[in-house]
Amino acid sequence: MTSDDSGRIATPLSSKMKHKILIGDCRQVMKNLPPASVHLIVTSPPYNVGIGYGKWTDDLPIEEYLELTRTWLTEAYRILADGGKLCVNLPADDPNSILFEHFNIMKQLGFRLVCNIAWVKWDWSRAGKFAISKWKLDKFRYHSMNRGLLSAYESVLVMQKNHATLKGRSDLKYEEFRDWKYNVWLISPLKDRAHPAPYPMELPRRLIKLYSLPGQNVLDPFLGSGTTMKACMELGRNSIGIELNPDYVEMLKRQLGYGSLEIENAEQMTSAFRQQQAEFYRHFRIP
Ligand SMILES: C[S@@+](CC[C@H](N)C(=O)[O-])C[C@H]1O[C@@H](n2cnc3c(N)ncnc32)[C@H](O)[C@@H]1O
Repeated sequence: MTSDDSGRIATPLSSKMKHKILIGDCRQVMKNLPPASVHLIVTSPPYNVGIGYGKWTDDLPIEEYLELTRTWLTEAYRILADGGKLCVNLPADDPNSILFEHFNIMKQLGFRLVCNIAWVKWDWSRAGKFAISKWKLDKFRYHSMNRGLLSAYESVLVMQKNHATLKGRSDLKYEEFRDWKYNVWLISPLKDRAHPAPYPMELPRRLIKLYSLPGQNVLDPFLGSGTTMKACMELGRNSIGIELNPDYVEMLKRQLGYGSLEIENAEQMTSAFRQQQAEFYRHFRIP
């Protein structure tokens, strides 16, 4: 068992972890999750750069995108336990500066910055020595006052809900802490992709080990191909994943196996469904 500063005892650890996928729009689905029921959120929302996610339009007018962002972040704050962490993978620089937009909203909601991790996707120290064409150099020289640099990393904002400390013994190993302790992580992106924009398992794996304890509850509101959930299955954490696109269900089953996985269409809010949900969340409750 774990306890927080106020001595409240979190959910007794179950020997069997639970994993549940809810198919629906996270803005609605998160509203049905009880307050303070999740210890950690690890996710990568759509970047609004026109990626084809099927049901989701990834090129909203910026005001609509920011409204979506505010809605899910507000729910994230509500359902996180005191001291719980929110880890959000975002582009470091994009035309709409969505990293900074997310950060501003998070601060307004009451989150505090724990760290900003640079996820370096390729070894730029070697790539920097590759020849560059005269044409590219000229183009940069001509436009240098207006141009940014090539993007070699994405960010992961790690935020905390208020200042409460969650206590408990972590399962972090010596070698893991030694290798991950700096806020720059070199992790190759996935080459073999069943989904248009997955992150590599190593990313949620590190975040989950650093910022949650065995048996705690992890949520990914933009589940995609289920990478966060897969990491939770490996690491002995409960997990909930929300995904809008029902066409990803088969891929999710292939990725995650059929064993202990529950999949619900969250848009069919029948009373039987609600009762089932209540049962499931009892397992997740932090009294
Ligand atoms: C960047 S991808 C996440 C990829 C994931 N990290 C992985 O490793 O596969 C974003 C996902 O969010 C889903 N999505 C978009 N809008 C959503 C919403 N409102 N609610 C739930 N899921 C949504 C998209 O269909 C897409 O699969």
